[in-house]
This record gives sequence, structure tokens and C-alpha cells, in this order.
Amino acid sequence: MLQTRRISCNPFSCEYQRVRLRCAVASRSSQGTPSGPRRPRRKGLFITFEGIEGSGKSTQAQALAQYLRDKGFEVIETREPGGTPVAEHIREVFLRPTRELRSVDPLVPECEVALILAARSQHVADQLLPALKQGAVIVCDRFSDSTLAYQGFGRGLPLRELRSLTRWAAKGLTPDVTFLFDLPVSQGLRRRLNSTDVNRLDHETVAFHQRVRKGFLSLAQQAPRRIHTIHAARSAQAIAQELITLINPLLEQGLKARRLTVKHS
Ligand code: TMP
Repeated sequence: MLQTRRISCNPFSCEYQRVRLRCAVASRSSQGTPSGPRRPRRKGLFITFEGIEGSGKSTQAQALAQYLRDKGFEVIETREPGGTPVAEHIREVFLRPTRELRSVDPLVPECEVALILAARSQHVADQLLPALKQGAVIVCDRFSDSTLAYQGFGRGLPLRELRSLTRWAAKGLTPDVTFLFDLPVSQGLRRRLNSTDVNRLDHETVAFHQRVRKGFLSLAQQAPRRIHTIHAARSAQAIAQELITLINPLLEQGLKARRLTVKHS
């Protein structure tokens, strides 16, 4: 007799999230999309971390990368903007927190997008696609969702055009799984402004960061199978444990199906 198991419908329950993520990876591993062209099958896994300033995502991305390495996976840790020498140069221009840049020569939103896309195109072509082809797991601190949240929702640029531009710059590459770190803007900015590497965007208004946060949450609603919202106002240990609980079923099921190279298991 066919056995069915009832899963919790509470979107914050671990069981619900695990099942949802498994579905997301399963659907990604199938070739092509109903409406789009068939994309070449790739073996690796592309995990992105997103969130507002001070959400703690970078620390957790590093911890997850280490966890995956300890399990024997080939892991590439990278970030956006950045990840290659050219893209890191662009990052410096993009984030430089100097007074001169802010008051004398502030970047217009279109220039921000152009810089981000220039960096992304280099990163995708030189680093991400070759690594995925080799079967690596990529842990990337920010990707296209940040462009939609910051330049789209934050700066007010049209989302439709941004989506099409980011798709073009990324050669159609989208993450398999995204962890969105969410917490109140005031908490994030407090954490951030106390740190030593404050950047240009950290100085934006609270209203800007609130639009960005709302933007991220709206993107998560639109892509519930890919974007998993993490409540970031908790202890680092609790969050790390949640990420491990979520990623393990993917490693066991989704990746095996996609023949990810495991160095030693
Ligand atoms: P972070 O890596 O320390 O979070 O800093 C990156 C900054 O760049 C952050 O303020 C968000 C911003 N950013 C954008 O505005 N658009 C983008 O597409 C990306 C990737 C980052």
C-alpha cells in the first residue's frame, strides 16, 4: 500500500523547509525549463547567502563552507561584487567609503548596476561556471538577488530590466539554494557600523535599508522553493545548526543524483 507522510504546513518548521529545499534541488537538476531553452547539465551545487547589512551571513557562509569541506566536498568560497582579480578591483570602486566619492562624485544607480554587472560577468565566466562544471560546491556571499534588492527595491530601478540584465551578465546562472538572512534593519546597522570595514552603502539612510529588506523578503516570497529565509537575530550557533540541518538532505539526495564529485566520504 502506498504510504504517505503528512508534513507540517508551518513554513518555519524544519521539516517543511527540508522538504521544500529537496523539491527545489530536484527541479533544478532536471534539464531545461518548460518555457526556456535546455541548459547544459552541470554537476556542482551553487549556494548563495543574501541579506541586509550586518545580518551575519558572511560568518555563516564561511562556517558552512568549512562544514562541507570537512565532509569531503570540493568547496569554492567566493563573494560579490568580487571573486576574481578584476571583479575585486571593481568592488573597491563600488564600495569605497571616501567622502570624495559620496559628496563630490556620488555613484548614480545606473553606474552601480553597470559596475555590479561588469564584476558579475567576469566572476561567472572565470570562476563560477568552470567550478560548477568540475562538480564543486560554490558558497557565494551575495549574487543577483542583491542587485534586485539594492538597485531595484533600494534605488528604485525597474525590476524587469534588472532581471534581464542580471540574467545576461550571469549567463543564465541562478543559485540552486539561497539562504536569506533576515533581521530588523536597526539591529543589522548597529552590528555593521560597529565593525571596522564600513563601506559606502552602510551609510545609506535607514529608509533605504528598509526598502532593501522588504525587497529581499518579497523576492523570497516569489521564489519560495529556492530562497530559504533564516531568522538572523539568533545565536550564531543556532543558525549554523539550522543550515546544517537544511543542507544535509540536499547533499544526500540532490547531489548524489547529480553525481557531485565527493573527494572522500
Ligand atoms: P558585503 O559583501 O560586505 O555585504 O558588501 C557588499 C555591498 O554591496 C553590500 O552593501 C550590498 C552591495 N551590493 C549591491 O548593492 N548590489 C549587488 O548586486 C551586490 C552583489 C552587492
